[in-house]
Amino acid sequence: MRVRALAGVVLLATMTLAGTPATAAPPAAPTALPAAAGPTSTGPAATGLRTVADRAGLRIGTAVDMAALAGDAPYRAAVAREFSTVTAENVMKWEAVEPQRGVHDWAAADRLVDFARANRQKVRGHTLVWHNQNPSWVNEQAFTPEQLRAVLRKHIIDEVSHFRGRVWHWDVVNEVFNDDGTWRDTIWLRNLGQGYVADAFRWAHQADPQAKLFLNDYNNEGVNAKSDAYYALVKQLKAAGVPVQGYGVQGHLAVQYGVPGDTLTNLRRFEKLGLQTAFTEVDVRMPLPADPIKVQAQAQGFTALLQACLLADRCVSYTVWGFTDRYSWVPGVFDGQGSATPLDENLTPKPAYAALRDTLAVAGR
Ligand code: XIL
Repeated sequence: MRVRALAGVVLLATMTLAGTPATAAPPAAPTALPAAAGPTSTGPAATGLRTVADRAGLRIGTAVDMAALAGDAPYRAAVAREFSTVTAENVMKWEAVEPQRGVHDWAAADRLVDFARANRQKVRGHTLVWHNQNPSWVNEQAFTPEQLRAVLRKHIIDEVSHFRGRVWHWDVVNEVFNDDGTWRDTIWLRNLGQGYVADAFRWAHQADPQAKLFLNDYNNEGVNAKSDAYYALVKQLKAAGVPVQGYGVQGHLAVQYGVPGDTLTNLRRFEKLGLQTAFTEVDVRMPLPADPIKVQAQAQGFTALLQACLLADRCVSYTVWGFTDRYSWVPGVFDGQGSATPLDENLTPKPAYAALRDTLAVAGR
């Protein structure tokens, strides 16, 4: 079981949170990283993240790139060896599973679920309701609000039913609020009003009563306007009997912005409302080129969130949004930034990898 009495306290200043993604970034420059003890130093089975996380009673996960899983054997081996949960980086998103109205393509997502089963991994389903990566037929067709509600309901029921019994957590609604705590202006809010959130959770629960249902967002690690908005929303949903069971913290950090010092306080207040918590998409990017202090700050960012999870009472999983820079989404989205994952392009561990492993090992003692 999890040892909660960790002695270490991370002294990281509270700073402003992650910035706005820019577009059209150049590919990541090769980075010179200090050597770190890797998964092969004393045998992967003995020291891989998965083994130490198991001992600590925590599920450790990664987002999975399906092309890499199919074509890159060392990547595939690392997904199986290092992680006890997987999240589809893209293939469970609506545009992937229903590219044309009424025409479903579950093939890639099924492959991930099969891989997870073969490797005794849980699956985090990501994501049912979002403003990004919706099929063009949803965005472009002129639906009345009533029609759109029926379209959304059908999507949720179809997808959750398809994976019924095989998905552990669903990120039911992704990125509901702006950073200032106001409701994000999306096709769902505009047409359906705020009630779309409660509806989505009810429909998902109806389709798979066993799956744990999560809200999920970024810049919601600490206590701030955005997490306050979630806190108020969860209270409302709970009071109305809506089946919301988890608060997902994506955890897209950047070394230049630091880590919010009140992350644990924030997790705890959601746990007091009866929710589980999870880190769902952790990465810690940096302005390129990398240098030793950025690399050190990155390791601290990864471990600060992990420590918060281990110190919390109901933080059930910690997922990184990709574990190698070979496939990270960061350089394509954040101009001039990269090196955001624990392993470099050659799958060589950075200090962040050893720091995660060491923290899990301490928790599992
Ligand atoms: C990203 C994927 O990593 C990219 O491959 C894709 O092009 C865009 O989406 N928050 C989320 C994730 O909830 O779904 C996003 O994933 C990253 C930000």
